[in-house]
Amino acid sequence: MSKEVIVISGSGAIGIAIARRIAVGKQLILADIKIENAQMQAQELRNAGFNVHTIECDVSNRESVNKLVDFASKLGNITGLVNTAGLSPSQASAKRLFEVDLYGTALLLDSFAHVMAKGGSALVIGSQSAYRLEPLTFEQTKALALTPTEDLLNLPFIQAVDDSLSAYQLSKRGNALRVQAQAVKWGHHGTRVNCISAGIIYTPLANDELNGERKEFYRNMLSNLPVGRGGSPDEIANLAELIMSEKGAYITGSDFLIDGGATAKYWWDKQD
Ligand SMILES: NC(=O)c1ccc[n+]([C@@H]2O[C@H](COP(=O)([O-])OP(=O)(O)OC[C@H]3O[C@@H](n4cnc5c(N)ncnc54)[C@H](O)[C@@H]3O)[C@@H](O)[C@H]2O)c1
Repeated sequence: MSKEVIVISGSGAIGIAIARRIAVGKQLILADIKIENAQMQAQELRNAGFNVHTIECDVSNRESVNKLVDFASKLGNITGLVNTAGLSPSQASAKRLFEVDLYGTALLLDSFAHVMAKGGSALVIGSQSAYRLEPLTFEQTKALALTPTEDLLNLPFIQAVDDSLSAYQLSKRGNALRVQAQAVKWGHHGTRVNCISAGIIYTPLANDELNGERKEFYRNMLSNLPVGRGGSPDEIANLAELIMSEKGAYITGSDFLIDGGATAKYWWDKQD
């Protein structure tokens, strides 16, 4: 049995699409706050020949993440970590979004930094939504990148936010900045870390947005995308596979925007 271990936190549509690309012939751990999501996906993957383990994990809880790290470390050499555990603005309050999307991501990166095998890499799924924020000040930028994880949620400009869309955007901006800052530390261990900022990708999470309180806004965005359609989880997996493979060995600390042109449209269509 392979001693190579791939950890996917968040067993949703994007996580599973990536797992199918990078976990063939390896030991795959699916971690999710809803264990039934992980178990359901595990069954499908086992039928397709994958070697899958499941574990309940709340990425916003240190004890829970420690258990995941222990579980993965005992299985073998951790060569891949992909964090797709996340909530969208229609699914949670600002407070919960910060806990899961901002703090949870930072916590995972801290917790796995020292246990990843040399040559391994981590990937975080951010969002094009972060690209809609007005520029942050340098102090805010630095704070998102470098503030110790346990202090992140106490930052005054985080505490001041109470709407879930702003919380989502700031959290996802925080993900890309965190990844950039962490790449330096990860480099010392011979590992890499990157972020993919995704646009509208057809998944249960996107469906909640397309049918939630901001549905007009999302549907309008979808119908005006430069590429003319929403994305599929497999299109995110195409990019993830490249970044995490040997071909991506020179890529670290990077954030890749893959959004069908949503950001381009948002900022520059007004120029016509
Ligand atoms: N689908 C999109 O359009 C889109 C766009 C941009 C970014 N993203 C990001 O991609 C990531 C994956 O989203 P998806 O579309 O695959 O969604 P999904 O709903 O299919 O999967 C998300 C999974 O994360 C799990 N999860 C939620 N909170 C958790 C927690 N605290 N701990 C552990 N697991 C938790 C959920 O139970 C679910 O199984 C998210 O971070 C999301 O913000 C998605």
